[in-house]
Amino acid sequence: MLESVPKAVFSGLAASPLLKRLASRFGMKRPGSFARRFVAGETFADAMAATRAIEAQGLLTTLDLLGEGVSSVDAAAHATAAYLTTIGEMSQAGVSRNISIKLTQLGLDIDPATAIDNLRRVLDAAQKADFFVRIDMEGSAYTTRTLETFERVWAMGYRGTGVVIQSALRRSEADLRRIMALGASVRLVKGAYREPMSMAYQRKSEVDASYVTLMQILLTGGTPAAIATHDPNMIEQARQIASSARVAPDRFEFQMLYGIRRDLQMALSTAGYRMRIYVPFGTEWFPYFMRRLGERPANVGFVLRSLVSDRKA
Ligand code: FDA
Repeated sequence: MLESVPKAVFSGLAASPLLKRLASRFGMKRPGSFARRFVAGETFADAMAATRAIEAQGLLTTLDLLGEGVSSVDAAAHATAAYLTTIGEMSQAGVSRNISIKLTQLGLDIDPATAIDNLRRVLDAAQKADFFVRIDMEGSAYTTRTLETFERVWAMGYRGTGVVIQSALRRSEADLRRIMALGASVRLVKGAYREPMSMAYQRKSEVDASYVTLMQILLTGGTPAAIATHDPNMIEQARQIASSARVAPDRFEFQMLYGIRRDLQMALSTAGYRMRIYVPFGTEWFPYFMRRLGERPANVGFVLRSLVSDRKA
């Protein structure tokens, strides 16, 4: 029954301050608490423990210092400084030099110039330390601004950075072709946000069909590609496209989220594919966590069970 709860319900709940307070109180309390299924923890040390365990199994990682929708210049500067610290600490820790970042965390909601300035500070530090910076894609209200910001920094000469394209959006093929023409790296996802019918496909079958079309263009286009999905069907089609088009294994990688389909993560790695895990951490985990529930409402059952066992503990 839970499977039929629409994403809209979860994005509504994600805006509730009361729920956020309750979740913050219980979600991360101890290692078995519910949010830990999808979030490595609140501290950098938690993130390193998770990252090291993943990398010890032969998988790659990308670290996301959680945060989004920042509305003041100070908060954006603070988030930028936190990313600079994270880059320094990750270099010392010797883990994969790869981070994921959201532009609304760097001030995109304030104005594009603030986001560009902050992004450049992150990219300068990343370049010096040989990091790759993936700019995550947010809801469709940000698509144009996110891609424009990316194209601006690319035109300034920044490399070692890439974007995300969502198969749910009707506009995505044109965006994908434009970004690929630059030679930039693209992560292809289905899209985690509730979107209006005018902008986005609503049915899973349509989103999946679009994913396959975009994946065919991306994998055979010669630019670095990340196929980010847990869907066995999409993964099988990716393998077939790559094998029949003779795409070299180092030209693409699979990506999955921390805590989701660990069996499939290991199976792909064992089969010889590059497999990167997106490891989110930090205190601002609530919206990210709610999106994971929205993708698979059955996860609510898991949260409720974990709350009950927490009370018994
Ligand atoms: P689909 O939703 O069809 O799920 C396929 C199967 O995967 C399910 O049957 C289930 O087994 C498993 N699964 C999927 N989600 C699950 C969950 N939450 N809990 C448990 N099992 C689950 N989105 C975005 O809009 N912007 C972005 O920048 C990113 N970045 C990103 C990075 C990486 C590495 C990944 C893997 C995903 C993203 N996403 C994203 C999220 C993406 O858009 C999408 O919402 C999720 O990946 C779920 O879609 P699937 O492709 O897995 O397919």
